[in-house]
Amino acid sequence: TLQATFYGHTFDNPFMNASGVHCMDKTELDELAASASGSFVTKSATADSRDGNPEPRYINLELGSINSMGLPNLGLAYYLEDAIKRQAANPDTPFFLSVASYKGFDEYVSNMKHIQESDYTGLVELNLSCPNVPGKPQMAYDFEDTEKLLNEIFKFYTKPFGVKLPPYFDFMHFDKIADVLNKFDIKFVNCVNSVGNGLYIDEATDTVVIKPKGGFGGIGGEYIKPTALANVRALRQRLNPSIDIIGTGGILTGRDAYEHLLCGASMLQVGTQLHKEGLGVFERLNTELLAILEAKGYTSIADFKGKLATL
Ligand code: DHB
Repeated sequence: TLQATFYGHTFDNPFMNASGVHCMDKTELDELAASASGSFVTKSATADSRDGNPEPRYINLELGSINSMGLPNLGLAYYLEDAIKRQAANPDTPFFLSVASYKGFDEYVSNMKHIQESDYTGLVELNLSCPNVPGKPQMAYDFEDTEKLLNEIFKFYTKPFGVKLPPYFDFMHFDKIADVLNKFDIKFVNCVNSVGNGLYIDEATDTVVIKPKGGFGGIGGEYIKPTALANVRALRQRLNPSIDIIGTGGILTGRDAYEHLLCGASMLQVGTQLHKEGLGVFERLNTELLAILEAKGYTSIADFKGKLATL
């Protein structure tokens, strides 16, 4: 079985979309809910609806993708209302409501207040790592601000939530973010958001491939798997055991999924490959991951989760 245990729930399998891909409106969310994914997450919501950055703003590359969407979304009220309906219709199949901020610190707080005051009691993925808002740094690269924000949120927020993190590249930063997160009763972390502010150049035209920010954008896909695995592993080694990890980054095959689980992930998000392949990716990943378990004689994910061997 591919059953995945995560924050006390059992999901049929660990696979879900990564926020931003196939989750903009009710129709796309219904399609995800009906697919072979084990769960799903909504598009990161800001207080007000947004059109996002000018196009082209998402381009598939041979080894991944580059995007600078700029938080296009239908606004928190839309996703919250839809989430409350889904929760009432299917109380036993949890999903994730993604919430971000366009304006910075105060909007994060007011968005979480909005959710706290609503009837939604499910999981929230607090996105501290959008790299595509011109002039705004990624919250989770500022360790002091992140601690301040979580302090503020925990003054009033009583429902389960986790945080989506950017990739870190230094052991000092792994230590620092883990120190901050371990002070709070957060339920999960998601490693990683896109590798921020990459630059891709088209060989035929010597030109960037996306319009916003002079061509700089978040990188996803095959390019980022080693970075994603390192972040899952490093955070699993440092976080309180009560904090589950979602592994995101470079999952194209069952083998990629298996490696994320070896590093200690409990759920797995697929962004770039879902965008390239469509919803059929989930059935393929389930088949490929199950074949790996069978070949290795494992009967469940628990048999190998977090058990990466070292030399
Ligand atoms: C966007 C990109 C992200 O990586 C993210 O976490 C949130 C929003 C965007 O550009 O829309």
